[in-house]
Amino acid sequence: MSSFRVAVLASGTGTNLQAILDRVHGVAGIEVAAVVSNKPDAMALERARAAGVETRVFERAGHADRAARDAAIADWLDQRDVDLVVLAGYMELLAPEFVRRFRNRIVNVHPALLPSFPGLDAVGRALEHGVQVTGVTVHFVDEGIDSGPIILQRAVEVPYTRDRSQLEEEIHRVEHELLPEAIRMIAAGLVTIDATNPRLVRVGKR
Ligand code: GRF
Repeated sequence: MSSFRVAVLASGTGTNLQAILDRVHGVAGIEVAAVVSNKPDAMALERARAAGVETRVFERAGHADRAARDAAIADWLDQRDVDLVVLAGYMELLAPEFVRRFRNRIVNVHPALLPSFPGLDAVGRALEHGVQVTGVTVHFVDEGIDSGPIILQRAVEVPYTRDRSQLEEEIHRVEHELLPEAIRMIAAGLVTIDATNPRLVRVGKR
């Protein structure tokens, strides 16, 4: 059986990448085949190398514009027969052409219950807004900002103290469960988009 090849794009610490490496890499035919970063010093790259996964840095500076850089990333991923692209703390918008090439094959993890608090600093804005419940969303990526079809969500209660680091820690813990779970379900063919409503994702029995 051929493996289900996953590429992870990450800009930072890479704790979500680590969760993927620990929980689904080498499990049920799933292989993390490549890790891409826009930052040469991203700790995510070290985590990938430690796991023996091929890495590549695509800095914005080396290309005419973002679209050219993203086309280079897409070509590199295609050469590696990637089935699924996972954004795990990738802090850049992907060019629309990249999204079209990998339509419904890109997922992102976002630290809020979308459609609330899309974009940057979702945790800080949720706290400022005074919400009592926030959470984690894994969704397909479309051309908008955190606006694609929702695959999995889980709620996280804001602690009584409203302590930011405590909330962030709990959100990360949930992300590290939900993102590998979504990858496992997609690889198993359990995630489909409704034929009549492309916003609606049907998730089969886990
Ligand atoms: C996560 O909180 C994720 O929701 C957001 O970026 C953060 C990445 O964290 N998109 P890490 O680099 O995986 O530790």
